[in-house]
Amino acid sequence: MGDAKTSQEMQRWQAVLRPILLGGMIVLISLSHYLTPLTYCHLHDIFQRLYYIPIILAAFWFGLWGGLGCSLLVSVIYIPHIMYQWGGTFMFEIERYLEIVMYNVVGGLTGLLTQRDRLQRHELQRTAAGLAASYHTLQGQSERIMAVEEQLRRSERLSTLGEMAAVLAHEIRNPLSSIRGTAEILLDDYRPGSPKHEFVEIQIKEADRLNRVVEDFLRLARQQQPAELQRCHVREELETIVTLTANEARRRGVALRLTPIEADLLVTADGEKLRQAFLNIILNALQATPQNGSVSIGLRQQGQQCEIRISDTGPGISDELKQRIFEPFFTTKPDGTGLGLAITRKIIEAHGGSLQVEGKPGSGTTMLVSLPLESSD
Ligand SMILES: Nc1ncnc2c1ncn2[C@@H]1O[C@H](COP(=O)(O)OP(=O)(O)OP(=O)(O)O)[C@@H](O)[C@H]1O
Ligand SMILES: [Mg+2]
Repeated sequence: MGDAKTSQEMQRWQAVLRPILLGGMIVLISLSHYLTPLTYCHLHDIFQRLYYIPIILAAFWFGLWGGLGCSLLVSVIYIPHIMYQWGGTFMFEIERYLEIVMYNVVGGLTGLLTQRDRLQRHELQRTAAGLAASYHTLQGQSERIMAVEEQLRRSERLSTLGEMAAVLAHEIRNPLSSIRGTAEILLDDYRPGSPKHEFVEIQIKEADRLNRVVEDFLRLARQQQPAELQRCHVREELETIVTLTANEARRRGVALRLTPIEADLLVTADGEKLRQAFLNIILNALQATPQNGSVSIGLRQQGQQCEIRISDTGPGISDELKQRIFEPFFTTKPDGTGLGLAITRKIIEAHGGSLQVEGKPGSGTTMLVSLPLESSD
């Protein structure tokens, strides 16, 4: 911006100064001509050639018409000097008249060449600007393609995960129900009070727990497409999750806050999946935040998007880990599955939104969820 302004100002100054300089030169040379006695003939020869300087400069600066205009002006000023001071004999002064022809030839030719050169330069600049614009467009398009590819890769990973989960669940559940069934039969033999009754009960309880784990895993891996789309009040959904996690926050000594907002932001979503997504993020934030820290949830409208920021005062995430945390099974927790964020991102993207991570190590983490607002029509 500043550079463009300075160069504009320079151009304005040049447009004023150049004609003044040319005029000054012509006046000086002409005065020298008219005032120097004819006896100094060699000086007149020099002055006569000095006219080429303003003529060539004018052609350089102002093109064909500048060069020609200047050479004509010089001719008009110079002719009376030849006619009246040198004796006025055409044949005698033929050499000087030829010089006048040369002034005009040099002025015209130099102007023409400069003008052509300038046109070519402008053409080149325009082509270069066009090339730069197409390069930018191409760059933008390739970035978009790369983002879509990345999204595709993620969905492939997750759909493989879904299939794996289904096979695994099938393979585990069948033997599990056999184990549970046989344990129930054993219960008939080991009545309450018998020393082995308790062991069989543990067997049944553990089989049930395993079954629940498998079911949870299956349910999480299937969380891909929103099933029931309806109008959701984002603030209400967030309030529900805050109420649900308030106990966990208290237990950890972490302040959990939902910044109050007046606007009622509506999105079209599967409420249950949306709550699941918010829950995963808020649980991660609570788990990452040390005692006496805080997790705050902000909500605002940004254009046609609803933005939800969940910020914590935990250790933050390094740049290398920022992409990896969304990979299925990536976890740094001893008891984590590493599925929370992979599934959360999938849910948000299936709703046409995006999930990003911000912040740097040492200054906490902010998870930014963007969801398209419900259109008013
Ligand atoms: N708010 C956060 N602050 C710091 N690290 C985080 C935060 N949220 C996620 N992470 C990192 O991202 C990893 C992946 O999170 P994700 O929710 O996918 O799995 P998880 O929390 O490890 O396991 P699960 O969700 O099954 O309990 C976490 O192990 C943790 O290292
Ligand atoms: Mg998690």
